[in-house]
Amino acid sequence: MQGCDGSVLLESTPGNPSEREHPANNPSLRGFEVIEEAKAQIEAECPHTVSCADILAFAARDSANKVGGIKYEVPAGRRDGRVSIRDEASQLPRPTFNAKELISNFEQKGLSADEMVTLSGAHSVGVSHCSSFSDRLYSSNATFAQDPSMDPNFASSLKNKCPPRSNDDNTVVLDASTPNRLDNKYYTGLKNHRGLLTSDQTLMTSPSTRPMVLTNAKHASIWARKFAKAMVHMGSIDVLTGSQGEIRTRCSVLN
Ligand code: HEM
Repeated sequence: MQGCDGSVLLESTPGNPSEREHPANNPSLRGFEVIEEAKAQIEAECPHTVSCADILAFAARDSANKVGGIKYEVPAGRRDGRVSIRDEASQLPRPTFNAKELISNFEQKGLSADEMVTLSGAHSVGVSHCSSFSDRLYSSNATFAQDPSMDPNFASSLKNKCPPRSNDDNTVVLDASTPNRLDNKYYTGLKNHRGLLTSDQTLMTSPSTRPMVLTNAKHASIWARKFAKAMVHMGSIDVLTGSQGEIRTRCSVLN
């Protein structure tokens, strides 16, 4: 959480729970074994040279190309952090945030409102656990049974997949129209009141971000270009260079 330093990959050590253990990351983050495997192959060819932080940035770049046809280059040279503290992950934005809270959260890391809206387009792929949005279906607020900004038909289908007070770990796709494709259909979903998380739908509800949603929904190529640029920017935040940090041998443990 101190920057793009691969600290999220570190496992806890006795007495020191790592970022991975924070409720914002566990159980949602997955794929650690893919990064570890890439690291093992790179170490075998070229030891102590490529950091886990760089591998993570390259993996994001290659994923965007594979599932979205979005191509961009990422500068290398990040070094790996030696610190990972569970409670620092509380800086992460929450799925219950409104547009104002999201804008301020991203601003604290130097990312603009437009970059925040653009990067949220990553929710065009992947899944969410029911617990991340069930407050929208079963409100404790007496004034509405379910979130009025959600399409009632969409809400009904979600209630089927996420029964009340269920303890199971069901997941639902974030973008029901093209769940495995990184594209701008996510924004069309927001226009149709089919955003899954509060933090998704608020981008359409809020007058401050709605024009950005509408532009991204209308112009696929403009959004894709902005997404690539914002990913490079995000990947440059608080990186370690020179003699700072280390180049880990394995991504889940310090050297
Ligand atoms: C705007 C603030 C954001 C919030 C509040 C947020 C929150 C979340 C939540 C709650 C989930 C589902 C976790 C779960 O229940 O399993 C999720 C999934 C995901 N998020 Fe975000 N996110 C945000 C921004 C981003 C950004 C900037 C990216 C990348 C550029 C991103 C990429 C993803 C992806 C790819 C998934 C699906 C993961 C999977 O399938 O396992 N999110 N996000």
